[in-house]
Amino acid sequence: MSTVDSIDVSAPKVQTTGFVDYFSSIEQQKLKQEFLDGKRPEQCYQCWKVEDAGGRSKRINDNQVFKDYQFDIDYNNIKSPRLLNLDIKLGNKCNLACRICSPRCSSTWSKFSKKQSIEFDWVDNKTSTFWEDLIKISEEVKYITFAGGEPLLDKSHRKLLQYFIDNDLSKDISLHYNTNGTVYADFLFEYWDQFKLVELSFSIDNIEKQFEYERYGIPWDQVDFNVKKYSQDGKYNVNFFSVISALNFYNSYNLYSYAKTLGLDVTFSLLEDPQELSIINLPIGVKKKITEKLLTTNDNLFIDKVNSFISIMNNQNEKYNFLDYLAEQDSLRGQQFSEYYPEYFKLIAQEKF
Ligand SMILES: C[S@@+](CC[C@H](N)C(=O)[O-])C[C@H]1O[C@@H](n2cnc3c(N)ncnc32)[C@H](O)[C@@H]1O
Ligand code: SF4
Repeated sequence: MSTVDSIDVSAPKVQTTGFVDYFSSIEQQKLKQEFLDGKRPEQCYQCWKVEDAGGRSKRINDNQVFKDYQFDIDYNNIKSPRLLNLDIKLGNKCNLACRICSPRCSSTWSKFSKKQSIEFDWVDNKTSTFWEDLIKISEEVKYITFAGGEPLLDKSHRKLLQYFIDNDLSKDISLHYNTNGTVYADFLFEYWDQFKLVELSFSIDNIEKQFEYERYGIPWDQVDFNVKKYSQDGKYNVNFFSVISALNFYNSYNLYSYAKTLGLDVTFSLLEDPQELSIINLPIGVKKKITEKLLTTNDNLFIDKVNSFISIMNNQNEKYNFLDYLAEQDSLRGQQFSEYYPEYFKLIAQEKF
């Protein structure tokens, strides 16, 4: 469903055509037709991979999120301009340089990469058709997802929230933020309180010292404090969104248990890139140990959530040596993998890549 009624308004092609025109483009119509024909468009490979392993993909999760609107959409009309969900990457301004990320999404990452990072600010970009497009579809929109960069560092999107408030539309719109948890955004509360619902998904893949290695740039205590504060406030929906990679799968139950003590849900998702950090690269002996460790937690809800990742890990092999990949970044960041993950490092060191 997400492919036929929602759009990522910061995807490169959208930036040149504007998102209204792009949504009714031949390219998008073809994509929708492929779904109607029961095909599996190759652009959606991440979801097929997770579904084939028996997991819940983003596609399936989104169908659940948007279920109240499923009968309002004429799926057979591939030319329909109706847009329910906007997925907006506000820019790439970010205070962290997470190991799994890149300069494309984070301005801080450019310190650690030869690839040039261009800072961009989509909402304030005067040459784009963003505002024109937004006004055209504003009465249809029911969900807005903000990512980035770090969306809670972006003050310009208050203009966007204000637009929906001024036009008496905000009470019908839910906001979703993917956030790194470094910002307690009380400066946004007066806006958020005028929307139907606000959901904060904390992108946290590990806890404590290992968090500081993986999501480089902030002490764990500060993020822990913010998550607890948002959660205790009880005003907004709070949960975790965690990316499974070769760095954190071994200790994924630690994160799950942390979330459980706070009464919060965790959605696990599969790393897209860099390929070097994928769980399929792990040596067979390490894969066995991870499988054993996770399946003996005796926590069925957790096992249900990670089973498809275990199957992806065990059914595919790659040859990247992820320790070599990390070493280059370690030297630039003054960190050492072995210090942050002593037990896991020992396990990997015993096995050959
Ligand atoms: C790029 S971030 C931007 C929003 C915000 N800064 C944050 O981290 O939540 C959006 C989401 O993509 C996830 N992400 C980052 N790198 C990824 C990767 N290589 N593969 C899959 N998801 C990734 C993040 O964990 C986050 O949940
Ligand atoms: S916080 Fe988000 S945007 Fe920033 S580096 Fe991490 S994943 Fe990328």
